[in-house]
Amino acid sequence: PPRSKVTWLGTPIGELKRTPDCGPVLSPLSSSDSHTVMIRTDLLRAGRAQVPYPGNPRDAWDDAHVKMPCSVKNLFPGSTEDGNLEPDEARHLLGTLLPDMAQLALRAPELLAQPIPLLKADRNHSVTFSQEQIACLLANAFFCTFPRRNSRKSEYSNYPDINFCRLFEGSSPRKVEKLKTLLWYFRKVTEKRKTTSPLCFTFSFFEGGGQIDPPDWSTAKLTNLHITCEGTIEDQGYGMLQVDFANRFVGGGVTDCGLVQEEIRFLINPELIVSRLFTEALEPDECLIITGTEQYSKYTGYAETYKWGGDHDDKTPSDQWQRRCTEIVAIDALRFRSFLEQFRPERMTRELNKAFCGFVRPGVPRDQLTAVATGNWGCGVFGGDARLKAVLQMLAAAEAGRDIAYFTFGDGSLMRDVHNIHTLLTNSDMTVGAVYSLLEEYYFSECRPCTSRRPEISLYHFLSERILGDSSSP
Ligand code: AR6
Repeated sequence: PPRSKVTWLGTPIGELKRTPDCGPVLSPLSSSDSHTVMIRTDLLRAGRAQVPYPGNPRDAWDDAHVKMPCSVKNLFPGSTEDGNLEPDEARHLLGTLLPDMAQLALRAPELLAQPIPLLKADRNHSVTFSQEQIACLLANAFFCTFPRRNSRKSEYSNYPDINFCRLFEGSSPRKVEKLKTLLWYFRKVTEKRKTTSPLCFTFSFFEGGGQIDPPDWSTAKLTNLHITCEGTIEDQGYGMLQVDFANRFVGGGVTDCGLVQEEIRFLINPELIVSRLFTEALEPDECLIITGTEQYSKYTGYAETYKWGGDHDDKTPSDQWQRRCTEIVAIDALRFRSFLEQFRPERMTRELNKAFCGFVRPGVPRDQLTAVATGNWGCGVFGGDARLKAVLQMLAAAEAGRDIAYFTFGDGSLMRDVHNIHTLLTNSDMTVGAVYSLLEEYYFSECRPCTSRRPEISLYHFLSERILGDSSSP
């Protein structure tokens, strides 16, 4: 035949041996030290489904075996002192809670009946959801199902992380407490789903709101101040506009390691976390207002010592839209690495405008504006000076026409200092513009020439001297 037609050479393939006609003779299938058989060998028949062996399941948690998610030794999430999960709780988690959460996540096409708009820069917009819709979205975040948010993140690079994947990484006790807090939320929403009255939330992305940049012209007078070293914004500030000491990516490190004021609030009121799905990074003149979230958990401690503190029964009354009367505003302060930097006028106006944007409600009469519940905004992780920030927040609140409840978080001397300066400023009838001009003066005379880390004369000392003048000197 012509060469091109040759398609095989050598021994015909039919003469080569194959199983099952050829091959070693098998001894009966059975378990041995060198062979683990996971099925019943006595029931092995052609065409029959195999039966797992042994009938009484055994568990092992050691170096020689695969550690299984269903093992009673599985430490996730720890709930006893040594981090072990009680068998009852493991059973509940794997048998009830996770399946219910999966069911909830799968209801997305039915529950979210229209596309959710992204809240982007330069666009004032609000979105209102039901409690059940939020729960469905958060269940999806838990199972990390939001597309383009795990690996190909570039499309959403200017948005916070939403999927919970990083929360499951590592063994930090912080994350265990965070997961306990979140699983408690899922437990409550999956159990009570059908029984609660519908509540909704509104996420309002608010840009601008008028500038006070710089506010030397302002003739507004300072408003009332209540200042205390006891209590917290969320507990004692109920019914007020509660400040979230935010990151420009709202929620900050809530789905990762972070565990300070903002993250804690997002854990005990987990519905806040959904804002991360659609809120673009905040610009200097933008804020996010979230109305109606429920507090599901209590907590103790803070940061390293944070612990889930059990159930919280949120009895906050609701408004005409069926939203809980809990209004939270996310405003992100600047992060300062050096003390002096924050007194630069452009930094002070940036902070003033940010706070003002969060506090002001254009068109709402003054008598309908609640007080602002705030505290050491920007003065923890972000390194700001609480005494300067307190004055800046006073100015922003005055311009917006709201009183302030200030929680110093245990700091008694801060409470006295801020109270004294507020009393001095109000007694001397200072306007926002006049106070701002003094802040600028402080920068030019004390901070700019300063060669050490901190100015010799403190801000409050400077203000007192300038206001009381020589009359106070002996
Ligand atoms: N009520 C009143 N005051 C509080 C409360 C509370 N519940 N909790 C804390 N404080 P911080 P920042 C006080 O550090 O500096 C997050 O990761 C306490 O004195 O949370 O603006 C965000 O996502 C604390 O030191 O706010 C940002 O990335 C101070 O408030 C970043 O931190 C400041 O709390 C913001 O950092």
